[in-house]
Amino acid sequence: MDISLQNIEYRYQANTPFERLAIKDVSINIPTGTYMALIGHTGSGKSTVLQHLNALLVPTEGTVVIGNHEVKAKQKNKNLKQIRQKVGIVFQFPEHQLFEETVEKDIIFGPMNFGVSEAEAKERARFALQQVGLSQEILEKSPFDLSGGQMRRVAIAGVLAMEPDCLVLDEPTAGLDPRGRKEIMDMFYSLHKERNLTTILVTHSMEDAAQYADQIIIMQQGQVVKQGTPIEIFSSVTELVDMGLDVPEVVRFQRSLEEKLGITLGATYLSIEELSSAVAQLLRGAHV
Ligand SMILES: Nc1ncnc2c1ncn2[C@@H]1O[C@H](COP(=O)(O)OP(=O)(O)O)[C@@H](O)[C@H]1O
Ligand SMILES: [Mg+2]
Repeated sequence: MDISLQNIEYRYQANTPFERLAIKDVSINIPTGTYMALIGHTGSGKSTVLQHLNALLVPTEGTVVIGNHEVKAKQKNKNLKQIRQKVGIVFQFPEHQLFEETVEKDIIFGPMNFGVSEAEAKERARFALQQVGLSQEILEKSPFDLSGGQMRRVAIAGVLAMEPDCLVLDEPTAGLDPRGRKEIMDMFYSLHKERNLTTILVTHSMEDAAQYADQIIIMQQGQVVKQGTPIEIFSSVTELVDMGLDVPEVVRFQRSLEEKLGITLGATYLSIEELSSAVAQLLRGAHV
């Protein structure tokens, strides 16, 4: 299911004294199976863009195409419910949205709300728990008796139980420790790979953007200012620094190494293994 945002604009509280232009002239194509990362400062419009991907927000200008559905500004848009089922959003701190007495009830709530039978929803709950790496034993527990990390996984299981074609992640690792972050990011990556799940990730971590995404989009003041592969994006260190954005540690290390040794490697490396073999090759070449 391809998704495309075509020249969309969004104004919060449009036509009121509190009107606020959040994004403008945003065009993004997301072919099915893509892993895309959205980066940019707080307030640059990332979360606003995400909410258009499953029609939680309807643009005030422009068109959103989600599979064979179209959501257009200034029109009565139908079938939004179908779209919301196809595109699952994991919000920041999704565990804040847990509310049922048991984990099972929480996970089956979404699918049942979309007309799935109780038996089928329960089956999906079991499978979803397995996908997020939790044991079936917690099904009967209260979500509020779990650890923070487990609560987050339960909330993610609730989104997976909807069986979405596309997963939208708004800073899904915020507040987790480094190990918890890596586990969750690796889990999303396996889902992406195994099920060809289109994935759109908003992140502050340049490491995560570099490691997992096929395409990166930079947003600034409500607009898309750059799009490219991780290598393309992180090759322009000065440009990123000028925008006040970070670069992955390995890229910073490469630049300082190049300066110290008075060399240029001619390419950008996003893993320490690739960088060290490039340096080794260069040094070998220099000595023969
Ligand atoms: N509910 C809202 N009402 C009014 N303005 C909002 C609302 N949510 C976000 N904004 C404004 O829209 C702009 C983009 O915000 P947002 O999409 O949340 O950015 P990001 O996710 O990149 O931090 C900001 O100027 C923000 O203040
Ligand atoms: Mg945000």
